Amino acid sequence: MEKIVVSGGAPLFGQVEISGSKNAALPIIYACVLVKGKCVLENIPDVSDIRTSFEILRGIGAEVRMLSRGVWELDCTNVEAGRSDYELVRKIRGSYYLLGSEFGRFGRARVGFPGGCNFGVRPIDQHIKGFEALGGTVSTEGGYVEIESESGARGANIFFDLSSVGATLNVMIAAATADGVTVIDNAAREPHVVDCANFLNTCGAQISGAGSDVIKIKGVKELHGCTYAIIPDMIEAGSFMVAAVATRGSVRINNVIPKHLESVTAKLIECGAEVEEFDDAVMVTTPGSIRRTSVKTLPYPGFPTDMHPQMAALLCTAEGVSYINESVFENRFRYVEELRRMGARIKVDGRVLVIEGGAPLSPAPVIATDLRGGVAVMIAALTAKGVTEISEIRLIERGYDDICGKLRSLGADIKKVVLPDEAILPRVN
Ligand code: EPZ
Repeated sequence: MEKIVVSGGAPLFGQVEISGSKNAALPIIYACVLVKGKCVLENIPDVSDIRTSFEILRGIGAEVRMLSRGVWELDCTNVEAGRSDYELVRKIRGSYYLLGSEFGRFGRARVGFPGGCNFGVRPIDQHIKGFEALGGTVSTEGGYVEIESESGARGANIFFDLSSVGATLNVMIAAATADGVTVIDNAAREPHVVDCANFLNTCGAQISGAGSDVIKIKGVKELHGCTYAIIPDMIEAGSFMVAAVATRGSVRINNVIPKHLESVTAKLIECGAEVEEFDDAVMVTTPGSIRRTSVKTLPYPGFPTDMHPQMAALLCTAEGVSYINESVFENRFRYVEELRRMGARIKVDGRVLVIEGGAPLSPAPVIATDLRGGVAVMIAALTAKGVTEISEIRLIERGYDDICGKLRSLGADIKKVVLPDEAILPRVN
């Protein structure tokens, strides 16, 4: 069993390099299935969701090889539809982009239901709505999503009922080589949607409007290979910004796109932090006391839902009563129980967190309940004087590349320990 052991109470100081974005890399990796040729992807983070995705693609006939750290070559020339491994696919959420790329290339698809963080139901009805509009007949039986079509994907107009990152990306991928023009209305505007559109256009697609809520895709006959660098991970960057403020430190965060961080920057300034922006970095300092604020999570460019747990940990240490309204997912509050174990005065009222800050947090044995909840307890542990042990850390490693090493380079006393299984004493009833 593995744990992360944190001896907290010291401010973070120094500078850290942000890795490539997991949530931008995933759709782009699966979009390579559209290409009968080689794609070279740069700035790929070394996280387990990516490793799992490479295994899934190898399993359907792709050749995947690392050229150097963070640089991977994918050759999907000999990929076949409907062969992905059910158990691998259900390990992550991003595997559902294989539906769009198999449908776009072969006119059919068969992929197991995706997995991902447990925030409640996480339906895929908008994905299905998009595939049906593109001429697919979709069935969901036996744990699989299956798409059939007469003659492949064909262009259509689609108006999504809500802003969905995954559905926007999946339909954009399927439409890139469809027969005709597709217009997606009420599209998600996240930077990783723009990144995937840019990747596809580099492969010869004709996509315009990504980043706005209307995306137009003129289907092309075939895509060609390319070399493409993934954008920096805005959520990893935001997590380090919040950790710097929570520990009352001073950290320069390099390899970021400041514009992607605007909503987080604005909130941290509201709390009393100072944030200086450079071309590809931000400098976060905490000159004075940190005070309460209110947050509502929204689709981009609003405050990201993936930053809500980290912000909650920070607000536990701020003076006053703060509120976080989680408007995107119906239940991503499982981590709150772990913060309570550390003395947080925090309660959930419907979809609103009420956080009574000001009292220092104290160490306790806690678990990572999901990817971002795991980083929230890690940030809490960095502020708590004493030793905190965090279990279930594989959930954190799904989306953060060497987070312990990066925090140690900022002065944190944090390490990953591997305990032999017999060290797990049987519970005595
Ligand atoms: C992506 O999930 C990210 N995951 C999530 O990041 C992120 O929280 C989310 O986008 C929002 O930004 C990946 O990119 C792999 P959505 P996704 O479709 O695509 C509902 C992390 O920590 N919905 O934008 O699943 C859905 O239930 C993860 O890195 C439908 O109702 O998010 C949610 O309430 C966690 N029907 C809302 O829309 C659908 O068909 C937004 O979901 C699809 C979504």
